[in-house]
Amino acid sequence: MAIRKVAVMGNPVLRQIAKSVPEKEITKPEIQNLIQDMVQTMFEYDGRGLAAPQIHESLQIVVMIWDFDPQVKPYIKVLINPEITHLTEETSTCWEGCLSLPGLRGKVDRPNKILVEALDAHGKKLKFEAQGFAATVIQHECDHLIGKLYIDRITDLSQFGFNRECSQFLVQGEAVDPE
Ligand code: NI
Repeated sequence: MAIRKVAVMGNPVLRQIAKSVPEKEITKPEIQNLIQDMVQTMFEYDGRGLAAPQIHESLQIVVMIWDFDPQVKPYIKVLINPEITHLTEETSTCWEGCLSLPGLRGKVDRPNKILVEALDAHGKKLKFEAQGFAATVIQHECDHLIGKLYIDRITDLSQFGFNRECSQFLVQGEAVDPE
């Protein structure tokens, strides 16, 4: 296991379409080690989610801290080759941050309810719905797999800035994604 360097905005790896992971490769050491590195790197940088391109691996893998369900102890959710379907036109708004845009955040609207289909770290099929903040985090991370960053989703660039200013002036009473 290793802490990996995080690619920041400007690095072309963040703008590529990531390759899907062949199902039979998922349980092999190469992918399992990569997932471990992603988790370790996410914790090291105090992130709540990380996509493989952010550590210079253009593969469709996302890890995130799943603490959205009060009945279940927080755990690490791994999504491989995820597909997202929007289930509503309603949006929720969040001040998003990203380890690839350190020190910055911006206000993004995203569909409030989604269907997620993916494989987990064992290659098992997952299919579930997510709403609100959980839906935001999933969409943010999965955007990394199609070469998108949250700034591409900001409709009003006056709502984009440095953390230390935003926390004073902009985010009072609004949803904030810690990273
Ligand atoms: Ni991000």
